[in-house]
Amino acid sequence: MWIADLPLGELMFSVLRHLMSFLWSPVYCLVAGIGESDRDREAEQVKNFQSLGLNRCAGLEALNAALSGLEAHPYSEDEEMSSEHLVLFGAISLRHKEFRSVFEIGTFDARSAVVLGRLFPNAIVTTIDLPQVEEVGNVAGVIPRSTQLLSARDERLSFAHNVRFIEMNSLRLTESENVGHCDLVWVDGDHTYPVSAVDVANAVRLLKPGGYLLCDDIIMKNSRLQGPYLSTAGFDTLSSMDNAQLLSSPTLIRKRIGRWHQYPPRYIAVCTRLMIE
Ligand SMILES: C[S@@+](CC[C@H](N)C(=O)[O-])C[C@H]1O[C@@H](n2cnc3c(N)ncnc32)[C@H](O)[C@@H]1O
Repeated sequence: MWIADLPLGELMFSVLRHLMSFLWSPVYCLVAGIGESDRDREAEQVKNFQSLGLNRCAGLEALNAALSGLEAHPYSEDEEMSSEHLVLFGAISLRHKEFRSVFEIGTFDARSAVVLGRLFPNAIVTTIDLPQVEEVGNVAGVIPRSTQLLSARDERLSFAHNVRFIEMNSLRLTESENVGHCDLVWVDGDHTYPVSAVDVANAVRLLKPGGYLLCDDIIMKNSRLQGPYLSTAGFDTLSSMDNAQLLSSPTLIRKRIGRWHQYPPRYIAVCTRLMIE
């Protein structure tokens, strides 16, 4: 519907709601920052990594080693698409050099796939993203994949000898026969119902017993803001998988640490595929 088609009252309400959402974020971050510094959040993050048997500091070093040669500067959470998932990958790679099969749903610019390829040199990293024709009307259009982005992606992929890119809709994984094959699955495609729930279910199928499932942009309850990255689909589905004893209960790792990234509170969930008796 065009803005001109909206009744005046509805239009004013909509403008007001967006303005409030826009203003609420920095206010929340300021208030959340009182009594809790970036240092506190970093210390908490270190502990959460430890609870998974992971060393955040060493993970960060491993990540920066993987980034050197690819990029001019080390990891910064302020860069687009950068977040603690990359540090988690670094920390997991130090514990699991034996991984042979890593899977990513949502390639985007292939940066994360290439980093995964460097961190797990003994693995084949398979990464999938929508075919271009399926973008129209799909939530993927929220982050438009310009020709420039796609050529940057293809350029990156051309140098990554252990990364395999497949153009496919993740829903097609339902047909995959590669059950119980993956050591790690990174779920970062469509973040809303129903695709997000299907992606988690397919990730569970793909994983080996004990394998890691990492899921991006976990929100526990609906926030005042609205958008495709603010769905509780991932959290709800992981919780159901936990109840059904298919996955371990999710450990939630803050997506970013800095004060200005704290609204809405977003996490990366880390689970493991439970052993089948
Ligand atoms: C947030 S980006 C991924 C970022 C990347 N994984 C990273 O770690 O930097 C989400 C990507 O998922 C893709 N996507 C959305 N829906 C999808 C689907 N049904 N199947 C495959 N990919 C999908 C989008 O095209 C987009 O490139």
